[in-house]
Amino acid sequence: MQLTVVDHPLARVALSVLRDESTDVAGFRQAMGTLSSILAYEAARGLSVTELPVRTPLTETTGARLDELPLVVPVLRAGLGLLPGMLEHLPGAPTAFVGVKRNETTLVPEPYLDTVSEGLDGIEAWVLDPMLATGGSMADALRRLAERGATDVTAVCVVCAPQGIEAMRAIEQAGVGRLRLITATIDDGLNDAKFIVPGLGDAGDRQFGPR
Ligand code: PRP
Repeated sequence: MQLTVVDHPLARVALSVLRDESTDVAGFRQAMGTLSSILAYEAARGLSVTELPVRTPLTETTGARLDELPLVVPVLRAGLGLLPGMLEHLPGAPTAFVGVKRNETTLVPEPYLDTVSEGLDGIEAWVLDPMLATGGSMADALRRLAERGATDVTAVCVVCAPQGIEAMRAIEQAGVGRLRLITATIDDGLNDAKFIVPGLGDAGDRQFGPR
């Protein structure tokens, strides 16, 4: 699995705002938007383009257009905060939604929404979830995409625990195709309640309130 930790001053600043317990909802959403835009640049690095002629006011030169747009899949709820930054750069990208709630007692992911269509063969997909803790929720989303034929998937996260990264590696070895992970940080680990430490708390609750 290809792992990229985005090391950029603007990403570090936005992450600090997200981590700060005194950041309110508006500030949290704003920082998440900034960070999602930065992560989008990294996620899009490998997209293929076709060159095309462009006429400037002075002469003709060579430009580029994207060959194919990725399917963007936010994992509800927290992943919704990463969607605007992705669509800012790829406004025509197809979008599907996966809703997964981690049962905080059993830690088992409980799916409640899935709008991913069949027939994703040959399509690149980006799964958006700011938190990769145990990896259970991401694994559930990745399996759904693999079942529909997606074999080229990028997970776009903000804060990852080493345990979640290992879970993704295990999923890849189980044969879901080529996986990439792009994140703003790899944190120290998980506490007894399986929250990422130091982390940023519960990204869903901090954006949308407690369930
Ligand atoms: C959180 C988070 C991830 C998941 C990470 O979502 O946003 O989706 O838990 O945990 P895991 O890696 O151990 O599965 P949560 O279930 O709290 O739902 P929410 O986004 O609606 O708040």
